[in-house]
Amino acid sequence: MENLRKLDRVELRGKRIYLRADLNVPMSQGKVTDATRIQRFIPTLQYLHNAGAIVIVTSHLGRPKGKFNAEMSLKPVADLLAQLSNLKIEFIEESVGQEALAKTKGMRSGEVALLENLRFHIEEEANDATFAGQLADHADIYVNDAFSAAHRAHASTHAISKFLPAYAGPSMVAELEALQAALGDPKRPVTALIGGAKVSSKINVLQHLVPRMDKLIIGGGMANTFLLAKGMNIGKSLAEFDLVETARAILGKAKECGCEVLLPVDAVVANTLSTDAFFKTVHIDHVVEDQMILDVGPDSIELFNNHLKTCQTLLWNGPLGAFEVKPFGEGTFAVAKQAAKLTKTGKLLTVAGGGDTVAALNVAAVTELFSYVSTAGGAFLEWLEGKELPGISVLFEQ
Ligand code: 3PG
Repeated sequence: MENLRKLDRVELRGKRIYLRADLNVPMSQGKVTDATRIQRFIPTLQYLHNAGAIVIVTSHLGRPKGKFNAEMSLKPVADLLAQLSNLKIEFIEESVGQEALAKTKGMRSGEVALLENLRFHIEEEANDATFAGQLADHADIYVNDAFSAAHRAHASTHAISKFLPAYAGPSMVAELEALQAALGDPKRPVTALIGGAKVSSKINVLQHLVPRMDKLIIGGGMANTFLLAKGMNIGKSLAEFDLVETARAILGKAKECGCEVLLPVDAVVANTLSTDAFFKTVHIDHVVEDQMILDVGPDSIELFNNHLKTCQTLLWNGPLGAFEVKPFGEGTFAVAKQAAKLTKTGKLLTVAGGGDTVAALNVAAVTELFSYVSTAGGAFLEWLEGKELPGISVLFEQ
């Protein structure tokens, strides 16, 4: 982290900044349906504006596959960003080319513009050097504030660093520091809570975490494959039968490394996943053929919550049950509330990330109480897997 290039010693007044943000927000019928990423970006924007920089903001939105697509225009995002930040923001209808360049070159100190979706050009995702050079023509320095897009080696996250001095923006720095505190150099005992539907999407995460964590809580649909590996009956619950051996190997590795694995000890079961399904709580040994495990039960909640009391750091990715469908979110919400309470009293450092996780924490109304909640999806997972993220590597002193 010492070698991360930060903006604190850079004279920003009058500097043209190519500011890569991740304003890839959910949209419906031309309207932003969740402004979390926009809100999170505003402090960076205000900081650079107040410092007198010329702020040229860029982002991708969706996956338009190299072609213009009006539904993926960043124009509505520019409007909302202006409204929420109280800043005047010029929307420029291209990300490269003479017209766009003439507009950004005409900007003065303190002015802000948002360029159109980078992915309207196929060269962006191809990490094309010529295209990256054209992006760089807008500015004097490159600032990446988009951790959530840093797992992509694209022209605006990677190749551009060959043309401009590259720096980590304030949100990027905050995110990397939070992640470092949870996984790089955590206060111990450190626990990872890994949930979600499928083991297959988290095998590499589990393999990377087991030697680094003191405890691992496994929940959600993926816990079922682990229960199978332990010889339990899971009825007709979702599971990945071809990964039972892998689950067994992960449990074996955890034992070798001294990482305690906690699985649900009871479950909320029903025979369909629907709000009006008849549901009940059973001991994990008593799941029968026509039942599906849809959430952890009260004994599991108590077990997990008691373990959290003995920990100093919690890293969370993935819900413990089918939280989107009432009443199967109670396990996730109860553990999230306990984690939030312990964070509030200074006993636990809590770092969470991933789309479903953030959605679940929002429903539990605890997002603001966690030490850090990352809005990154794929980038958060790749970081949990221990991968080097191409968009981050270029921000370090070589
Ligand atoms: C995300 O939402 O995870 C990032 O914006 C990256 O988007 P992508 O998966 O389309 O590259």
